[in-house]
Amino acid sequence: MRTINIKENVYLLTANERRLHLFENYWPLENGVAYNSYLIVDEKITLIDTVDKNFVEDFIGQIENTIGDRDVDYLIINHMEPDHSAGIRAVVNRYPNITIIGNKVTFNLLRGFYKEHSRQIIVEEGTEISLGKHTLRFYITPWIHWPETMMTYDINEKILFSGDAFGSFGTLDGGVFDDEINLEFYIDEMLRYFSNIVGDGKYIKMVDKAMERLKNVDITHIASTHGPVWRTDIPKLLHYYQKWSTYTSDKGVLIIFASMYNNTEKMADAIARELAVNGIKNVRVYDASKRHVSYILRDLWKYRGTILGSCAYNAGLFPSMLNLVTKLEKMQIQNHLLGTFGSSGWNKAGVKELNKFAERIGWELISESAETKGTPDNVSLEQCKAMARAMAERLHREYPES
Ligand SMILES: Cc1cc2nc3c(=O)[nH]c(=O)nc-3n(C[C@H](O)[C@H](O)[C@H](O)COP(=O)(O)O)c2cc1C
Ligand SMILES: [Fe+2]
Ligand SMILES: [Fe+2]
Repeated sequence: MRTINIKENVYLLTANERRLHLFENYWPLENGVAYNSYLIVDEKITLIDTVDKNFVEDFIGQIENTIGDRDVDYLIINHMEPDHSAGIRAVVNRYPNITIIGNKVTFNLLRGFYKEHSRQIIVEEGTEISLGKHTLRFYITPWIHWPETMMTYDINEKILFSGDAFGSFGTLDGGVFDDEINLEFYIDEMLRYFSNIVGDGKYIKMVDKAMERLKNVDITHIASTHGPVWRTDIPKLLHYYQKWSTYTSDKGVLIIFASMYNNTEKMADAIARELAVNGIKNVRVYDASKRHVSYILRDLWKYRGTILGSCAYNAGLFPSMLNLVTKLEKMQIQNHLLGTFGSSGWNKAGVKELNKFAERIGWELISESAETKGTPDNVSLEQCKAMARAMAERLHREYPES
């Protein structure tokens, strides 16, 4: 764990998770993840969120190193998910006079998870608490994937402690501030975090609502629970979140196929080639059986065009495609142009199911499906190309500038 001074008397306490393979036991952590907590040293010493369980002992040590034998007065809980709340009991044990600050939903969860009954302050939208020089204001922003989520704003230092919002995967490898890092890498990891964790259709409107409210807040720093601290181009960061939370994507096409013996894959390649020939530069082709849904979701948020292909399998979709479309439907993802294709032996079951999915999710089908029996022949390859041309034409029309 490291302690980094982010503004006068405001510290980031951050732990790099490099060992864990899966976040929430599901999402790949190829680049790791950082857990961020914050400490404000004022007349009242205040901690904002904690860290995941493997780092708690070290975390307490870092607090002690920073404040010596002073007490922590307040612990603010912006988010109760265990990757940030696992240290609560240790903090309370070390600083038994502490007061926990949260909203009313926070304390319901706190009792459930930790049977915790410390002194409490329940805050509401706009409540302000003075720490001495710093005054904190609370924004209740529920459902940034959990019901209790809120944000804490330091009025004097203009720092927004945003919880999981604006969080990204990826450890902090030296660089901590947005002007010290490769932005492209972290924006990509931020989009992956957004699409995997907070982008579900049940919550996304709440993210958009939160973004609307933040428009009028004077922010110089955004300090999230994962990834870099943003201090350079805040409007750009807010713009990304606004864009993603309204399903606004760019010119490009994501092709995902599920195939056993490569027939469906050949069709995917034919579509991809024709897209390129027709001037679409952002084209990604993923194998649904190999590419984790984490990355598929990320790229789905990037590109307006989606083309799905499945071979027929036991009178339905191939399992990896079934898994994917079930997830997309459950997440209620919106605003995509769709094409469908696939190979079958006798009953076109894959494409049929994809078209039923299209109807259920409400994405606009860009053309007839491309389908073949066994190995794609010239007729089905021509269908693939026609689909690609229809998609390219539509994208050029929608994005004339890019
Ligand atoms: C285990 C298995 C189950 C299959 N089930 C069906 C099916 O229900 N309906 C059908 O038309 N073809 C079925 N097929 C045939 C495949 O869909 C066909 O071979 C297709 O060309 C495979 O495409 P691929 O090369 O992209 O895997 C099945 C094949 C296998 C091996
Ligand atoms: Fe979370
Ligand atoms: Fe988190």
